[in-house]
Amino acid sequence: MSAAVITQETQTDLSQKLIIQRPPFGLSLQGRIRIPGDKSISHRALMLGAIAQGETEIQGLLLGEDPRSTASCFQAMGAEISELNTDLVKVKGIGLGNLQEPVDVLNAGNSGTTLRLMLGLLASHPGRFFTVTGDASLRSRPMSRVVKPLQEMGAQIWGRKGNSLAPLAIQGQALKPIHYHSPIASAQVKSCILLAGLATDGKTTVTEPALSRDHSERMLRAFGAELSIDPDTNSVTITGPAQLYGQKVIVPGDISSAAFWLVAGAIVPGSELVVENVGVNPTRTGILEALAMMGADIQLENQREVAGEPVADIRVRSSSLKSCTIAGDIIPRMIDEIPILAVAAVFAEGTTIIRDAEELRVKESDRITVMAQQLNKMGAKVTELPDGMEITGGTALVGTDVDSHTDHRIAMSLAIAALVTSGITTIHRAEAAAISYPDFFNTLTAIVN
Ligand code: S3P
Repeated sequence: MSAAVITQETQTDLSQKLIIQRPPFGLSLQGRIRIPGDKSISHRALMLGAIAQGETEIQGLLLGEDPRSTASCFQAMGAEISELNTDLVKVKGIGLGNLQEPVDVLNAGNSGTTLRLMLGLLASHPGRFFTVTGDASLRSRPMSRVVKPLQEMGAQIWGRKGNSLAPLAIQGQALKPIHYHSPIASAQVKSCILLAGLATDGKTTVTEPALSRDHSERMLRAFGAELSIDPDTNSVTITGPAQLYGQKVIVPGDISSAAFWLVAGAIVPGSELVVENVGVNPTRTGILEALAMMGADIQLENQREVAGEPVADIRVRSSSLKSCTIAGDIIPRMIDEIPILAVAAVFAEGTTIIRDAEELRVKESDRITVMAQQLNKMGAKVTELPDGMEITGGTALVGTDVDSHTDHRIAMSLAIAALVTSGITTIHRAEAAAISYPDFFNTLTAIVN
């Protein structure tokens, strides 16, 4: 077997074209892969470090563009954060309630987590005024999901379209505690309210319809906040005002990044990969359950607990896949992995149904429309549903031009599909991968045989 030819070209508008040419007799993937740090945990470590008392040390921080946005926002409000690297980042916390009024607009870039979580902190800083914005994608994403509960707590927030779109202006207030019943299972909504509750006198509770990722709960507790959790009702209560103390945080590898290799190893014939140091928090492992349902050969090895989060190495060997149906409570536990699961479904026998995933329409792109369009351009059979997709597997894909729509997870999902596509696939705006996985294409090149 000869290796695929993978080349990257920078265009005059500075966007990148990734060209993947699969050799006529196919390819296989072999190797051990160390994935970058978890994006959700990286954001939270920087944020809690910034508002805690004393120093926080972070090992394994994700060096993607999203955590960089978080770091620069909190630096602009007075937190001292050492140069970002994976070995050790030191954050000198300024103490709860002490974020300084920034002299310029806070820019969250492409990062919904930065903007939504930060809003809870800003809204609860009485007497201070903040303005926040982001890139074109973030400025089109719904902020009312956090603005509304914050307003119920007494926050003053203004923005376009009935205060629902960034740029937003925030006049910090002393807030009052509420019990918020969120209509969506969203860790960003839950975390925003919990962070607002930190400085708020009394008990602030969030109840969600299904459990979303619980990294905020784990880390808030580790930093010293008083939190009670009712698993029967998916409710979490924070008692404020809290005091947070700097901690040592070890960030595990991001299962959302591992997912690309798990699917690649499953669908590329003759492959065997071990993805090391993957965070396997049960609120994130829906992708492992979905791939198991499809008959993927995936094993967890060396399972351990690192700094309050479960971690494992994951071995995947290629196997023939069959379709599955995913819907309901599993969706929030694999929401970011649905684009790459759609790729797995294209190579599975039968029709895979994905439902209850309308949240995909308000991610970095409309991931239902964009994945359906791009995979169909390659020859797949994907039908959009209002809240998901119907994917009939087994059609052979043929190389063509596809586009990430500046969405990191779409860029990487299409690159994995290209490995099992005949001819040449060109992925436009592939640089988006750097949002969560700057080294993705180098790793891809390294494991291709
Ligand atoms: C995240 C929560 C999820 C996820 C996002 C990261 C977080 O968003 O899609 O990539 O770190 O809290 P929602 O809370 O909107 O579902």
